[in-house]
Amino acid sequence: MEAKKRIFSGIQPSGELTLGSYMGAIKNWVALQDEYDCLYCIVDMHAITVRQVPADLRRRSVAQLAQYIACGLDPEKNIMFIQSHVPQHAELSWVLGCYTQFGELSRMTQFKDKAKKHADNITAGLFTYPVLMASDILLYQSDLVPVGDDQRQHVELCRDIATRFNNWFPDTFTIPEAFVPKMGARVMSLGQPENKMSKSEPDGCVFLMDKPEDIMRKFKRAVTDCETAVRYDPENKPGISNLLTIYCAATGKTMDEAEADFEGKGYGIFKPAVGEAVVELLRPIQAEATRLMADKAYLESVYTQGAQRAQALANRTLRKVYKKVGFVPAK
Ligand code: TRP
Repeated sequence: MEAKKRIFSGIQPSGELTLGSYMGAIKNWVALQDEYDCLYCIVDMHAITVRQVPADLRRRSVAQLAQYIACGLDPEKNIMFIQSHVPQHAELSWVLGCYTQFGELSRMTQFKDKAKKHADNITAGLFTYPVLMASDILLYQSDLVPVGDDQRQHVELCRDIATRFNNWFPDTFTIPEAFVPKMGARVMSLGQPENKMSKSEPDGCVFLMDKPEDIMRKFKRAVTDCETAVRYDPENKPGISNLLTIYCAATGKTMDEAEADFEGKGYGIFKPAVGEAVVELLRPIQAEATRLMADKAYLESVYTQGAQRAQALANRTLRKVYKKVGFVPAK
């Protein structure tokens, strides 16, 4: 039997999960869990590269795990864990940082954007963030890394670091590949449909745990255009096209079926219909996440077990790396 390919991915608990994270990422992770050997991480160490309120970070990290499970990720099939519970991430990160060029990190577009946004707090952590991400991936000898377009450059850097390291020290790391699933719906902001839906832009962002009335209000207020036809045309009708994409992802319909549903109907009917489809999609997920949040003992057992399984794998890579770079083995 051929070994399953390994997948690693993670989301920062720097805000609540969004409809975009569900439709663009988590839904795909669920589809991958049978065919691949997957690790899905809550990357809290990445989250502190910008200021967090400690109590909120703690609550969101656990809530994110509950929501992963409520979305259909099975803790038996996947290794689900919290990054800071596996110290090997930080340890490998130090070594890899010594094999990464300052110039390479300076070219990362996300660093440049974030540095602009947080001009009063440009930390070394924000700068070396891609090195920590490379450690996440390489520690587990991952083959594939499902990420959105915005993370492609970081995966490229990870490949460069791993290739360079392997040139010094052969056969250390599997060279990973970014895996941008064709099916993943790219959900845009409801307020500015040119931009990706993002928790850092709460206006136009639907959160996974939003109340039905808030979801309806956000969809009713969604930016459209001055025509009347519900037609998929991302170039000229980004708002309507985004709503159609969301409608398809929520109902499982094809774009043709979706357009047919709203033929001859105006935006006044279309927008609340998309809202309702999303409310219905999220209803069972929200109920399950709420139920799980009340069962702290269960969540604790999931992340504890996840961390143990992750550590066993991570340790193998870290020992190999420490030996190769010339550290004296402890005892
Ligand atoms: N940087 C990613 C993001 O912000 C999150 C992340 C951290 C990640 N480590 C990872 C994604 C490893 C994939 C693999 O979206």
